[in-house]
Amino acid sequence: MFPDKLHNKLSKRIENDSLRTLGKENNLVDFSSNDYLGFAKSDVIFKNTHQFLIENDLVINGSTGSRLLSGNHSLYTALEKQLCQWHQSEASLIFNSGYNANLGFFSCVPQRGDVILYDEYSHASIRDGIQLSHSKSYKFHHNNLKDLKRLLARYSELNVHIYVVTESVFSMDGDSPNLIAIVNLCKQYNANLIVDEAHAVGVFGIGLVQTLNFEEEVFARIVTFGKALGCHGAAVLGSRQLIDYLVNFSRPFIYTTGLSPHSLVAIKCSYEELVNSYKEEKSHSSSNQLKNNIQFFSQLLEKQYQQLNFIKCKSAIQSCIISGNEKVKSIAGQLQKKGFDVKPILSPTVPEGEERLRFCLHSYNTQEQIAQVLALLCKFA
Ligand SMILES: Cc1ncc(COP(=O)(O)O)c(C=O)c1O
Repeated sequence: MFPDKLHNKLSKRIENDSLRTLGKENNLVDFSSNDYLGFAKSDVIFKNTHQFLIENDLVINGSTGSRLLSGNHSLYTALEKQLCQWHQSEASLIFNSGYNANLGFFSCVPQRGDVILYDEYSHASIRDGIQLSHSKSYKFHHNNLKDLKRLLARYSELNVHIYVVTESVFSMDGDSPNLIAIVNLCKQYNANLIVDEAHAVGVFGIGLVQTLNFEEEVFARIVTFGKALGCHGAAVLGSRQLIDYLVNFSRPFIYTTGLSPHSLVAIKCSYEELVNSYKEEKSHSSSNQLKNNIQFFSQLLEKQYQQLNFIKCKSAIQSCIISGNEKVKSIAGQLQKKGFDVKPILSPTVPEGEERLRFCLHSYNTQEQIAQVLALLCKFA
């Protein structure tokens, strides 16, 4: 029999209009995936991956074990070395996903007696990792430097080790912190800064930390391969010592089967495409097309749709606040019926009252599609 307590929790979700269900594949215009540059469907990346596997006689389906046992294919070492070059990092360690990387980092790096200060809007994977650690943690108001400074001043007096955590692009709001100011605060209070770059890689160059030349100022970066790179997996970037430590103590790294060789080759080929795309700076490169679409979307909001309650930001994530699960679901449903895949983000994923429609922009969206979807939103909202 299904336990009552679990049944009641599901019933409550139905009552609140917040029951999660798995959707079907569709042919709607994509305003919801994280495939910002179209790499997940790129035939160039697919063909390059295939060719590399064939040319190097890599006829293997799986990695056969965890990396500390039989799964550490030489492709791993080669890719980690390349990641260091692409991201200007001393060392790097690949994890099976961004969720695993955050769990793996935060569960073992901050120690008992240490303090973690994290942005209140940090991704669930960061918060879950923090929960697994033995350190004390306190959230600061979203992107609020004054609040962060207040906490830094308080805990630096106690002479404890402090970790500060933020994202270079927040996954639900699409906005960015003032990284320059955070780096300076961390220096002032001798705190270690960790930046999750999941939604910045490929959108702001190869990452915002690098765009700002802060590679040396951060203790660790988390980059993921499942968003703009269109693949799967993630890496922690940091010092050699940090990576050696993770290999020894990060349980989500140690106790799991490694990625398959073809996953590693796909990541390598996607990065090569990304690096080329930024090198080329050609009008038709996917990075340029994404940049133009973000600009076009923002200009339309400014000129024609000021009445819509969008969160101001320059990233590929543009969120329009529409309070109430029922209302935001209904508007998303109407947009989907008109052919646009726009997803509602419901509470409890975001705080009650801050439910939203999240528009993810891509290199392959046309300006006509953007203009149409905003005109429809204005009509339905
Ligand atoms: C900020 C952030 N970090 C980490 C992750 C997890 O990455 P992955 O999808 O590779 O597990 C996400 C995913 O949405 C994210 O938004």
